[in-house]
Amino acid sequence: MSKELLKQNIAKAQLEIERKKDFVKYGKMRQRYHFMPQTGWLNDPNGLIYFRGKYHFFYQCNPYGGFWDTMHWGHAVSDDMLHWEYLPLALAPSEKYDDYPKGGCFSGSAIEHDGRLFLMYTGTGNNGHGAEQTQCIAFSEDGVHFEKYVGNPVLTAPEGISPDCFRDPKVWRHGDAYYMVCGASRDNRGLALLFRSVDMLHWEYVNVLAESRGEWGYMWECPDIFPMGDKYVMTFSPMGAGDHTSVYMVGDLAYETGKFDCQISREIDWGFDYYAPQSFLAPDGRRIMVGWSNEWEWMPLWKDWGPTYKEGWCGSFNIPREVHMREDGTLQFIPIKEIKNLRENADQRDKVVVKEEGTEVTAGDGVSYELKFRIDLKETDADCLDIILRCGENGKTVCRFDFGKAEMSVDRNDADGWSRGISKSVLFLKGKRELDVHILSDKSSVEIFADRYQNNHSNNIFAADAQDQLRICAYGGKAVIRNLESFGLKNSFKTVNERGSR
Ligand code: FRU
Repeated sequence: MSKELLKQNIAKAQLEIERKKDFVKYGKMRQRYHFMPQTGWLNDPNGLIYFRGKYHFFYQCNPYGGFWDTMHWGHAVSDDMLHWEYLPLALAPSEKYDDYPKGGCFSGSAIEHDGRLFLMYTGTGNNGHGAEQTQCIAFSEDGVHFEKYVGNPVLTAPEGISPDCFRDPKVWRHGDAYYMVCGASRDNRGLALLFRSVDMLHWEYVNVLAESRGEWGYMWECPDIFPMGDKYVMTFSPMGAGDHTSVYMVGDLAYETGKFDCQISREIDWGFDYYAPQSFLAPDGRRIMVGWSNEWEWMPLWKDWGPTYKEGWCGSFNIPREVHMREDGTLQFIPIKEIKNLRENADQRDKVVVKEEGTEVTAGDGVSYELKFRIDLKETDADCLDIILRCGENGKTVCRFDFGKAEMSVDRNDADGWSRGISKSVLFLKGKRELDVHILSDKSSVEIFADRYQNNHSNNIFAADAQDQLRICAYGGKAVIRNLESFGLKNSFKTVNERGSR
């Protein structure tokens, strides 16, 4: 165990960040208000927590380049989840259980215990028997500098669980104990395992919390479980379940047996770029969920590290979303209200009648904006309505509400010459009078929330700045739009980057 080596490896990575951060800062494709790394690669949100008056986001990262490699934990703090101050990396590989080029400090979570900030993460090492994943602890007095626990690892894979598929611990407190859910694979099926501890250091296995019967893939990554109303919500990202990237289930949890009984299962987001979400409680009681806006090479639409790789970075988080439960137990994922503070140049129209020739819409600079409206379904007789986004000579992205086919889709095949795919979901409007639409566009991503924030599509697109037009068209009749509101969204990174890292 060497505290020194951890310090050295963090210092080495910080030097690299210092050297490259200005280059990334001027990247053409960098996001304006979606969280992204200072330099290099980012994937899962880790250790999301509100601690001592600040939001802390940790994240899987490789500070050395815009591609996945030996995992470190990045760290940033914020007052509003939009303006960020980067802190030194929290974790770097340094021990035989987490120091491996194709491994490192994998995903995990944070919790306050004994007045200190505890991180629980997966160490991925390889000591001659292939990748081996174990659960490890690190803690910090000041919430900035972390020390790995000398007794690591605190958990190895239980019998029957593949040691290379035992990862992503999410810890919470219930009653007098700590509980932890971890993703795993057994007999080629995904599952979530439940553990318990009274001191955060000694853990006992409770049960298989939930498992795939084949329909939910061969491995569950980044499981999470939290109470909502009188139910529990479980989320995970299944490997090998086709277009399902982030699933939520609503049901009951029996702590005595360690079993989750699933009653509802749905998709958090149907886009290609929403993965490994993690949730946490904001001080005002909101349940906030954050996902990674990208996908993996084993998924249907993967191509390579993507165009931003050349700018020295890759990966951002989707906008943090507030989770709400409706009366029927289904969930809504609503962008955090703080986004309002980024608004500028508001535009508003009470009623717009849209036909085939289309209507131009102004929204900020046409790149970084928010757009909201409702489609009046009683007065609309069109077969379908298209929102043509980030449109210009070089391409466009088309979000279609096809009332005949009862399908919502987002087509990015002409977006930028690189992105591809059409994300699709069922548009279920039976008995509804209106369809609400809310769009968040940033430099390299478009998030579309529809139908009470239950039909969501997040997709990355790498459109040129000149693709700044926005048009709405209706085909086969007219569409009546009400309460159309648009706002430009300010760059939340400017001041932070100027301040630099500590
Ligand atoms: C999910 C994931 C996790 C793992 C991490 C590695 O995106 O594959 O299961 O801990 O990324 O970076």
